[in-house]
Amino acid sequence: MHTSTVGIIGGGTMGAGIAQVAAMNGWMVELREVDEPTARRAIDGIVQRLDRLLEKDRISAENHDDAVSRLCVATCSDCLSECELVIEAIVERLDVKAAAFREVLPSLRPDAILATNTSSLSVTQLGEAVGQPQRLAGMHFFNPAPLMKLVEVIAGEQTDPLVVDRVAQIAHQWGKEVARASDSPGFIVNHVARPYYLEAFRLLEAGLAGVDEIDAAMREVGGFRMGPLELADLIGMDINTAAARSVWEQLGRPALLEPSALQERIVAQGHLGRKSGRGCYDYSAEPPSPAIEVQRRPLALSDSQRDLVARFARRGGERVGSELQNYIFARILVCIFAQATQALRRGVAQRQDIDTAMRFGVNYPRGPFEWMRAIGPDLCDEVLVMLAESSESDRYRAQPLAEVAT
Ligand SMILES: NC(=O)c1ccc[n+]([C@@H]2O[C@H](COP(=O)([O-])OP(=O)(O)OC[C@H]3O[C@@H](n4cnc5c(N)ncnc54)[C@H](O)[C@@H]3O)[C@@H](O)[C@H]2O)c1
Repeated sequence: MHTSTVGIIGGGTMGAGIAQVAAMNGWMVELREVDEPTARRAIDGIVQRLDRLLEKDRISAENHDDAVSRLCVATCSDCLSECELVIEAIVERLDVKAAAFREVLPSLRPDAILATNTSSLSVTQLGEAVGQPQRLAGMHFFNPAPLMKLVEVIAGEQTDPLVVDRVAQIAHQWGKEVARASDSPGFIVNHVARPYYLEAFRLLEAGLAGVDEIDAAMREVGGFRMGPLELADLIGMDINTAAARSVWEQLGRPALLEPSALQERIVAQGHLGRKSGRGCYDYSAEPPSPAIEVQRRPLALSDSQRDLVARFARRGGERVGSELQNYIFARILVCIFAQATQALRRGVAQRQDIDTAMRFGVNYPRGPFEWMRAIGPDLCDEVLVMLAESSESDRYRAQPLAEVAT
């Protein structure tokens, strides 16, 4: 049987993860790093992870040995001459990524596909900088690549559609769910997920709920695996705010995505989340305790608003919670819906791809469009109107969701 070969440039967190995925799915891997010892260390790390999978009986001895035997160090650029696909996962700088591709280009097959794992750079601009825009596509894996099911496949403006199709086919073959997106800031997940975090910080800023109440509402009523604030701490508050600011700036500063001053203050104080021991929570003791002081203000809903958020929770939630929980859930979720419909209107992706991306890229219980349909788009619009009427900002004056929900 013909074995395909993938070249991977960069064996850090993502490159090593992608190499593991490819090797476990029958592909030969040529891993290129800054030097041979670094590449060898990256492969040793992958082998250790495969060893652990074997110990835990997650893979058979045969699968383990096959995958290990497929991992090679690419000691020179000629080592990539057999590759059907070359994926880069190096530092997030366009000039460095372009230089890395240009360096290996002369030794590649003329039909080799180039793919970038960038999270925030333009696939179109990278293709142009490499001088091969028709051959280059985005292949955006999520961390940890062996566990996260999603790959966003991004077409640059000049990418050959056959290249995009083949990248999507390979991602499927590697056991991944594929969401296709156009080349736009944050692609799907890092764009549509923004309100999940931002609205949580706005609730804190408004004094309507504490850190643990917001997280509990989204887990218990929403069915999310993690609340927005504990997730921001896990991702890293610095990474999360940088993504928020970058997407907001690149999209022309839409009000809904305006970065949170509170979150940026927390980062400026050096509270970066789990990795620094403190973020929204203090991790110095188990269980972690809320680390943000909130000037509490009661939630003053009218009877009809209370009924509205309860109906919303009944249709869209795991269960109906307290008045505050229903409000938190409805508010955060409709803002995600507003962003998802905005992405659809801007041509970022189709409904189905947006749903797939959010389910498998950030483990949302349902995709936004599927969820909106279950709740009823008119009810979602009523929640948006309620938010718009009770806010001085024009953040919630979104175009009606019902127009595009189905
Ligand atoms: N970490 C994440 O959660 C995540 C998720 C999705 C996408 N990404 C993207 O993936 C890319 C890599 O991120 P990461 O977190 O794996 O970074 P990382 O710092 O863990 O790894 C980068 C690796 O690239 C190597 N490298 C640098 N220049 C090189 C070159 N010229 N040739 C060969 N190797 C080189 C470095 O030695 C390092 O091992 C970035 O574009 C990032 O935006 C990261």
